[in-house]
Amino acid sequence: MPDFGADATRPIRCVIDTDPGIDDAVAILFALQSGWFDVLGISTVAGNLGIPVTTRNAGRILALASRTGIPVVAGAERPLARKGFDTKDIHGGDGLGGVAFPEPAEPPLAANAVSWLADLLTREPAGSIDLLALGPMTNLALLVREAPQAARRIRRLIAMGGAVDEPGNIGPRTEFNIAADPEAAQIVLSAGLPLTLIPLDATRRLRATRDDCAALAALGTPAARASALLIEAYFNATTGRESRPLHDPCVMLLAARPELFGLQRLGLSVDTGQSEDAGALDRAPGAPAVDVAMTVDARGALALLAEGLGRA
Ligand code: BDR
Ligand code: CA
Repeated sequence: MPDFGADATRPIRCVIDTDPGIDDAVAILFALQSGWFDVLGISTVAGNLGIPVTTRNAGRILALASRTGIPVVAGAERPLARKGFDTKDIHGGDGLGGVAFPEPAEPPLAANAVSWLADLLTREPAGSIDLLALGPMTNLALLVREAPQAARRIRRLIAMGGAVDEPGNIGPRTEFNIAADPEAAQIVLSAGLPLTLIPLDATRRLRATRDDCAALAALGTPAARASALLIEAYFNATTGRESRPLHDPCVMLLAARPELFGLQRLGLSVDTGQSEDAGALDRAPGAPAVDVAMTVDARGALALLAEGLGRA
């Protein structure tokens, strides 16, 4: 049994908010396969691709993991105030790099993700549910805006996004999830929620090589084999790279074992202007402080990823 707060007898009760997405898929498969998470639902958001594709992909990932009874709920179709980006060149036209996934075994709920989340958080004990956010923060901002009392009941909000001292991946200082919806990120960062943000400063340091893919495939579970294929597809979108960053899995790894990450308490604001820096993070000492993961024990995190994906 791993030596940390989450294990199969005390799984983390969580909702995953996501735009799958290759690395989202690896993160979700880890959560489903490890047994260390009690996934109460998956809410989807437009990001890597449009909402029909990200919602279908959430269902396909559940089907691959042979999991039924976990609701998929579609959320925001577009950012609060902008057009969004196209990442087909990274994640493929299907969002999952062309890797074969089964069709969803169950349709999405006929509900909106934001009201569904608000109802769930209100119904369940306060401080009992983690929100694991792997995409643009549009659904989260709408929750803060439309149901602030419910948002205050979140135990931990752990979100991948932004770049603090690290160069961006969309612009010189901007990272995809925050640049896709800077207004939403600004609402979430200033809401005073128990937020841990994981920017590129940490996620770029958790990298998988082709050897790591082979090792994952050899673990033999459907989740590990699919993750190996997904990361290989991620290689195919680039040339000459020796390793690829595993951005979104960092969220699950930090949830399960926070001590793998080096946290700093920072006040941050989001550039909501119209320049190429729209979505950039700035240090803002007057802003509500949040935990920011600036470093990661990459070897320990990769080992934990493999352990979770390989659990029979
Ligand atoms: C983030 O952008 C998306 O393309 C990935 O899924 C990840 O959430 C990394 O910048
Ligand atoms: Ca994502």
